[in-house]
Amino acid sequence: MSKLLANIIGIGSYIPEKVFTNQDLARMVDTTDEWIVSRTGIKERHIAEINQGVSDLAVPAITKALTQAKLSAEDLELIVVGTCSPDYPVFPSTGCVIQDRIGAKNAAAFDVSAACSGFIYALSIATQYIENGTYKNILVVGADELSKSLNWQDRGTCVLFGDGAGAAVLAPDKTYGVLATHLGAVGSGWKHLLVPEGGTKQPLTKAGLENKKNTIQMNGKEVFRFAVKAVEDSLGAVLAKCNIKKEALALFIPHQANIRIIDHAVKHMGFPKDKVYANLDRYGNTSAASIPLALDEAHREGRIKKGDLVGVCGFGAGLTYGAGIIKWGI
Ligand code: ACO
Repeated sequence: MSKLLANIIGIGSYIPEKVFTNQDLARMVDTTDEWIVSRTGIKERHIAEINQGVSDLAVPAITKALTQAKLSAEDLELIVVGTCSPDYPVFPSTGCVIQDRIGAKNAAAFDVSAACSGFIYALSIATQYIENGTYKNILVVGADELSKSLNWQDRGTCVLFGDGAGAAVLAPDKTYGVLATHLGAVGSGWKHLLVPEGGTKQPLTKAGLENKKNTIQMNGKEVFRFAVKAVEDSLGAVLAKCNIKKEALALFIPHQANIRIIDHAVKHMGFPKDKVYANLDRYGNTSAASIPLALDEAHREGRIKKGDLVGVCGFGAGLTYGAGIIKWGI
């Protein structure tokens, strides 16, 4: 009997309406459109409203994915949500909030915390359950609202991120689906990208709040170095697992953090630029949402067709990384 693959039978994405351009940011901090575009490739990003939680972004993305999959929420047996910006601190999981919101009463639900690698980690977990026959219909979500954890006076971080959500519905198939995934972590780099206060190690204090210790602090140069290597290593590892050469990929979708990270990595790998997808100019770094958002757009634009081999690769805080090869099935 041939191996069961976790096939993506529906994909959807959603971004909040409000747009922040580089010009808007230049009115808030000491920066310019020219600096942001030349150092990151980002022109604008979408920012959620103050009372719009990450589940509010995820639900419209999920609705589109379920419609394409021709499934109802009650058909789902598992919901795995990659997010590092849940609706509520501590608990409940955003997976449970989503389960209630969409009426997926037959599904187990949990969150995966792997920052910008969240979707790849969640996809990899879901894939195991389908391959071993435990579940048939699984919803995988990548959604984040890092705008709520930014220091809007820190020009080194506030220009980089945007909010968004993406969702994929997986079901077993013998021909199409996730051929392999590869996950990794460099825990020794945890301090390079963190929110220092507000957790159990350092609960938020009044001084911490005044000094913005509840917002993202980043060593940009270290993260940049890590990211370029993570893209190359993880894509190489997952291609080797599938015994596929990089030339066989129809499209490569790396995490949309910074066009310079993408350009450095693909140049070093000798990968053709015209087969690399990038939409970060319009959305910035949407963390766990970036890969499903790009997969959805690339599919709608006709850049991915049924039978194509697609490479995906994420990297982020942790430091975490991961990659996958998908034989596209819709
Ligand atoms: N506008 C103008 N000047 C700025 C800005 C800004 N927005 N931000 C920083 N600068 C200044 C710095 O203060 C510095 O000035 P100085 O020389 O007077 O001290 C100068 O620009 C150079 O700063 P660098 O940090 O050296 O700039 P660099 O070229 O490294 O680019 C950047 C910074 C874009 C953050 C880059 O390091 C990067 O992209 N790193 C990776 C970040 C990333 O992708 N993070 C997300 C990971 S995924 C996740 O899990 C969240």
